Amino acid sequence: MAVKMNFMSIVAFVHDAVSSIVQEGDHVVDATTGNGNDTLFLAGLVGKDGHVTGFDIQDLAVSETSRRISEAGMDARVELHRVSHERMDEYVSEPVRCAMFNLGYLPGGDKTISTTADSTLAALGNAIELLLPGGLVTVVLYRDHEGGGAEAESVLEKLSQLGPGYTVCRYQVMNTVRQCPEAILVYRKK
Ligand SMILES: C[S@@+](CC[C@H](N)C(=O)[O-])C[C@H]1O[C@@H](n2cnc3c(N)ncnc32)[C@H](O)[C@@H]1O
Repeated sequence: MAVKMNFMSIVAFVHDAVSSIVQEGDHVVDATTGNGNDTLFLAGLVGKDGHVTGFDIQDLAVSETSRRISEAGMDARVELHRVSHERMDEYVSEPVRCAMFNLGYLPGGDKTISTTADSTLAALGNAIELLLPGGLVTVVLYRDHEGGGAEAESVLEKLSQLGPGYTVCRYQVMNTVRQCPEAILVYRKK
């Protein structure tokens, strides 16, 4: 299937990359469900025979994601946990085709509650372990929250050290003075 890449926003670009990889029936992870946009998107891609496991540490995020999934009639294919994504390996036992990390704080929520370098690195390690050959881990990094710059640098350092079994790509807008999010795509070679 030909996929038309969307260069208008970082999140849209990541969604296009994920669409090119995830198939119906796949098991995938949303490591930061937030308001449920990515969970809903993944649930649509995996279809009725697929499975999405989602994580967030905030009740508000899990309840909003749950509400939107129910409204879309997709409860049977989505499992949500109000626990930190660094515990992903306790909740996901089978290999996954994709894991999405959209870091930072909950839009419209408490900006002081955000992802942190230590748990993000641990969770990324888990996701990479669980990834199927031909699978993709995506990370959207934001530097505009407390500790965001240090978190971004530690993620970049960790992922740039992955071995030849992976292709790691960084996507960022260069011709801007604003601090924009950036995306990292980790593809596990077949
Ligand atoms: C930018 S938002 C995610 C946006 C979401 N993917 C969407 O599509 O709406 C980041 C989320 O990460 C969550 N978060 C922070 N630390 C976390 C952790 N250790 N484990 C899981 N989620 C975490 C926050 O509560 C927040 O909801």
